[in-house]
Order: sequence, then structure tokens, then C-alpha cells
Amino acid sequence: MKKLYGVIGDPIAHSMSPVMINDLFDLYGIDATYMPFHVSSDGLEAAVNGLKALGVVGFNVTVPHKTEIMPFLDEIDPMAKAIGAVNTVVNKDGRMIGYNTDGRGYVRGLKEEISSLTGQTVLMIGAGGAARGIYFSMAEAGVERIDICNRTPSKATELMRTCPFPVKTEVFDIKKAEELLPQYDLLIQTTLIGMAPKIEGTPLSLKGLKPDSFVSDIIYNPLETKFLREASSAGARTQNGIEMFVYQGALAFEIWTGIFPDTERMRENVLKQLGGFSC
Ligand code: ATR
Repeated sequence: MKKLYGVIGDPIAHSMSPVMINDLFDLYGIDATYMPFHVSSDGLEAAVNGLKALGVVGFNVTVPHKTEIMPFLDEIDPMAKAIGAVNTVVNKDGRMIGYNTDGRGYVRGLKEEISSLTGQTVLMIGAGGAARGIYFSMAEAGVERIDICNRTPSKATELMRTCPFPVKTEVFDIKKAEELLPQYDLLIQTTLIGMAPKIEGTPLSLKGLKPDSFVSDIIYNPLETKFLREASSAGARTQNGIEMFVYQGALAFEIWTGIFPDTERMRENVLKQLGGFSC
């Protein structure tokens, strides 16, 4: 019998996951299908029970349900518990188990560009949900020092305090981070600043940026944010948010099927879909 997978969110119509994951099922000859399900917050518990009752093998969870779904699952992987958010669920013999592949996916994508992460001096911009997964996963990967700057520094301090892995961190406001910019090898932009439709924003000035640094932005719409454009003009190597999206999907696929899929093919697939509505 065909196996059923899916993604739940609100809104969900523009999710790129169904095309990306169904293509992988075809590629690997797996008799399965992956569907988008529009689930509102007040229907979340019923949806989880319904997916379980229908024998859905696995599903992704997207905005706004990543945290709210946690009490409705039977088990939560330690990393997802620490982050406080789930983006991937697997149905193991009727038990719904939650994982978070966002942060680890980000790190996997970064490793494709930077062979040794451990010695890097890192500045992360932002301290929201996405930043949490990335910071914990970078710490898990053995990065020794990650400084954080955020509009609200107290949120960054709170994030740092709750990290389950050892990592040295100083927290700065944006102005101080701009002053200290020449010391960083790697910048990770995790806020929504610069995302369509407000594409003119940047989170901080790149005036002091080291020319041989690497600058990464988790936004993929537009593919090149103003921040990345400025970094590139200053001589830095850059990476957009496609990698995080592709690798979080690849890790979810591996959890469900045991196969780590062809990420190059996934990237091409996503870029083709973005051609439709990205600016
Ligand atoms: P996500 O889950 O996508 O990470 P989030 O949890 O709402 O979203 O976090 C958004 C991040 O973007 C936060 O770091 C937020 O800064 P604050 O902690 O000060 O709120 C940052 N952010 C969002 N809009 C911003 C703006 N206009 N200026 C500066 N920072 C902004």
C-alpha cells in the first residue's frame, strides 16, 4: 500500500516541500506520496491524532505549529526538546516522535562550504526561533565561540543560557557588533530583515567586514538579500537560505527512509519552484 507523508502549517499553499519530497520518492522508487495539509491552530491536536489514526508515516511541521505541536507528540528527540520546536515527525509503530532538523540542516549545508567549522570566529545576528536551532547545532558541531547580536540583547542572553552544549559567547547590541565586525570569519544572519516584500532592509552595516569572511543569510526570498549583496561587494563569500531549506528536508527524508538524498537535485528542484514566485 502507498505510504503517506505530509506537511502541516497555516498557510501551507506555497510550501515547496511536496514537490521536493515527491521527486525524491520517485528517484528512489519508494511507493509513497507527500501532501500539504492546511491545519489551523485550533485544529492542531485533532490533526496530529488524525494523522496517527490514518497511519501517516511521517510529516513536517511548519509555521505556526513548530512549538505548539510538542505536547501532542508521544516522544521528543533531545535536540528538538532543547530548541523547543519540532519540524519533523516520524510515526514509529503508532508513536509520534518529534525531531528538529532545521539547525542541523543549516550546519550540514554550511559544512559543504566551510570544511572546518571548529576554528571559526562566528557572529550570529538574531535570537529568535531559527537562531536557536542554528546556535545549538553549531555548538553541537564543536564550534568554540559564537557571539550573538540582536535588537533585544536580553533575548540573546536567554538563548545562550539554555544551550545544552559548551560554547563561548558574548552578547552585543547591533552598534557594538558593527564595531567588532573585523574580528569575525563567519556571519550568520537569522532575522527576517531583508525578506520580501521588505527587501531594502539590512540588519547591520558591513563597513568593517573582513574581505575573506563568509556571510550566510537564512532568507531565500529574494535569493540574494541586500545584506548578501553588500557582503559579496565587500569580497566575502556568501550563502543564501536555500541550503538550510534543502538540508533540513534531506535530514527529515533520512529520518523517514534511512536514505540521505541527492541534495544537488533537491536544490535544483527548489530553485525551479522559486522561479515562480521569488523576487
Ligand atoms: P524566527 O522564528 O523566524 O527566527 P522570530 O522568533 O520572531 O522568528 O525571531 C525574529 C528575529 O528577528 C529576532 O531576533 C528579532 O529581534 P528581537 O529579538 O529584538 O525581536 C529579529 N527582528 C525581527 N524584526 C526586526 C527588526 N525590524 N529589526 C531588528 N530585528 C528584528
